[in-house]
Order: sequence, then C-alpha cells, then structure tokens
Amino acid sequence: MGAATAVDGSGSGSTARPPAALPGLKLLRRLLLVAVVGTGFLAVVVLLSSSWRYSSSMLPRVPAPDVRLPAPAGGGKVPLERWARGSASAWHNLTDEELLWAASWRPGVRRYPYRRTPKVAFMFLTRGPLPLAPLWDRFFTGAGDARLFSVYVHATPGYRPGFPPASAFYRRLVPSQVARWGEASMCDAERRLLANALLDPANERFVLLSESCVPLYGFPAVYSYLTRSRESFVGAFDDPGPHGRGRYRAGLGPEVTAGQFRKGAQWFELDRDLAVGVVADGRYYPKFRDHCRPPCYVDEHYLPTVLSIEAPARIANRSVTWVDWSRGGAHPATFGEEDVHEAFLRRLTAPGKDQGNCTYNGQPAEVCFLFARKFAPSTLRPLLSLAPKLLGYG
Ligand SMILES: *[C@@H]1O[C@H](CO)[C@@H](O)[C@H](O)[C@H]1NC(C)=O
Ligand SMILES: *[C@@H]1O[C@H](CO)[C@@H](O)[C@H](O)[C@H]1NC(C)=O
Ligand SMILES: *[C@@H]1O[C@H](CO)[C@@H](O)[C@H](O)[C@H]1NC(C)=O
Repeated sequence: MGAATAVDGSGSGSTARPPAALPGLKLLRRLLLVAVVGTGFLAVVVLLSSSWRYSSSMLPRVPAPDVRLPAPAGGGKVPLERWARGSASAWHNLTDEELLWAASWRPGVRRYPYRRTPKVAFMFLTRGPLPLAPLWDRFFTGAGDARLFSVYVHATPGYRPGFPPASAFYRRLVPSQVARWGEASMCDAERRLLANALLDPANERFVLLSESCVPLYGFPAVYSYLTRSRESFVGAFDDPGPHGRGRYRAGLGPEVTAGQFRKGAQWFELDRDLAVGVVADGRYYPKFRDHCRPPCYVDEHYLPTVLSIEAPARIANRSVTWVDWSRGGAHPATFGEEDVHEAFLRRLTAPGKDQGNCTYNGQPAEVCFLFARKFAPSTLRPLLSLAPKLLGYG
C-alpha cells in the first residue's frame, strides 16, 4: 500500500481552458507536447528501472529513501497546501470525541492529486521523560529531511517536556490522559496517538514505540522497510492456553467468537488505511473496552483479534519490535548499561537467531525487527557511542 503511494502522482496543474491560440502558438504547443510526453516517458523508464533495482537489492541496506521531494515552499505554487503539510506543533484543543472524528476521514479518490511524500509517524507512548531521546534525535537527523517523518508523544498529563527547538521531539506532545498498563485506558491512549498522527495527511505508516525502544538501523533503512511493505506489522497468534483463549470473554460475542480471539504484542505498526479503521471502529472497540478486563488485556488482544477478522491478509502477524522474553516471567528483560556492548548489538542486527525467521512481502527476509526494547536510561551512553559503527546512525 505504502509503496504504491510512494510513486504516486505529480501535480496535474491547472485545468482552466486557455484562450483560443494563434496558428504559430499551436505549433509551439505541439512541440511542447512532444517534449513533455518524451520527458514523461523517460521519467517512467527511469522510475521503473530504479524500482527494479531496488526490489532486487537486499534490505535493509538501502542507501537513501527512493522518493522525489517537492521543491521547498516559496519556489513554486504548493497545491492543496492544507493537505500537504502537517502542523509545527502537535498540540490542539480537541476533545477525544472531536479528535477521533476528525481523524476518521478517508479520501474517496485513491490517487493523490499532488506529489505526496509518505511520512512515517513515530508515536511514543510514555509515562513522561524520554531518556533515549538524544539517540532518537541522531536517528532522525539521518533522515536528511524532516518531511519524511513526524513524531508524536503521549505522556502522563501535566508532563512538561523541555526539548530544544532542534530536537525532533520539540512541541510534539499531544493532549494526553492517564494510561494504565493492562487497562482500556492504555488502548485509548494508543488510539489517541493514532488519531493525532492521522491529522497529518502525509503520514502513511504509524509505529507505536515506548520510551525504552531503540532503532536498530539507520533512518533510510527503516523508512524504506516500512513504506515499501505491503503488510502492516501487527503480531497475532492463536494461543489455545489460559493466557490466550483463556482470556476470551463471552461479552465479546457475537462479533468475536472464542475461535477468532488472538493475542500479540502491543507494539504495532499500521498503514494509514488500517489506522483509520482503528480510530473509526465503533463495532469491536466498545466491546473490548467493556468486557476485556484484566486478566484480559485490551492492548494485547484488541488489535490482533480485530485485524485478524477484518484484514487478515494485510497484517504480517508479527511485530517489528524485538523484545527478550528468554528470561521468563510476566515482563520481558530490561537491558542496562553493562548489557549494551558490541557483541550484543551485533547479535540484534545480524541475520540469525535474534533477527528471527520471517517473511517480507511474501519473501524470506533477513531483517525482521527494526526496533528493540526494553532499554534502561543508563544505556544511552553506550548506545550513543556504539550506534555510528553498529546501528548505522549517529
Ligand atoms: C487552546 O485553548 C487555549 C485557551 O482557550 C488557547 O489559549 C490556545 O491558543 C488554544 N490552543 C490551540 C492550539 O488552539
Ligand atoms: C496472517 O494470518 C492470517 C490468518 O489470520 C493469514 O491469512 C495471513 O496470510 C497471515 N499473514 C502472513 C504474512 O503470513
Ligand atoms: C524458517 O521458517 C521456514 C518456514 O517455516 C523453515 O522452512 C526454515 O527452515 C526456517 N529457517 C530457520 C533458519 O529457522
């Protein structure tokens, strides 16, 4: 989906009819037409050959995002300015009801009438501080262009971030509410983040992250991986045991049967179309909110279940966020300063055991995870020093 829109439409220009032309002008116009068609043909050839080149190259070592950016404002006329641009501040005064409604619009015409550069929205669901923000800022600097991504932060109400204007997190806090782990308020926060990010029509892929997440590759590779994927990355599996189907509640029926109940990690990645479906969902969400109470955790079951019912072919049934459950227990391992060394980061990024065994657009892939958690604040120092060599940014 995302990949399809990436090469979508340049501006169609004015459709106003010109005044009747003189014969000389007519000839000139014909010549111009030939020139324009010829150039267009050449452009198509170049585009096609470059996409063939890309599809045969190995992910994720892609040198730069394959997008042609429009000229910066000021140069030419920017068509449909209102749609083409996000706002500088993520803050607004909308209520949740107004916000979800405003975010639920979907264009009926699929093709964009302007050159749309798809953005990746990085949505941080946090309690407050983002101790790893300096690492993320280096990652975002690697984008080379702020029009390729946007950042949203949901935090505990009252939290006042102090990011400098140069930071990607500057003025990116969204109006937030208390979100408690395992409760519906957590899922409300996720939908609120999605809705905020949907207000920017350029956002095409939406990644949910926490304050303990880190990127495993440089921005161009992550951008390319997400915007070229035909599937959204939502973990979903059928667990017949007590921690899976055992959490099914009869109140979820008849929309959801026990056999349709799925489980998956909270950390999703969605394309725009599915994201709109999630914020607009009045069929399943009220049921999950009212009936899926601990030990049925809404954030572990709602998306995997609903997307497996409504759009099974459009999700990869896996997350792009790596986490270590090997130590056992109710929570995954948290890594500290002493854990973050060269061998550990090589293990996370090299094809093999930790990168897992997955497919990407139907093909076996060497890279399954773009992000990893959970990293304690103390890991910032070693991450900053190792990232340029091992993670490809900084
Ligand atoms: C939100 O409302 C406050 C108080 O009414 C106002 O001062 C502020 O400008 C509004 N902010 C936005 C982004 O509309
Ligand atoms: C994900 O699971 C669904 C069944 O729920 C299946 O139809 C779909 O093909 C799976 N996706 C992938 C990429 O394997
Ligand atoms: C990966 O999964 C495929 C299909 O399930 C399997 O055939 C293959 O042996 C697996 N490879 C590794 C390295 O585990």
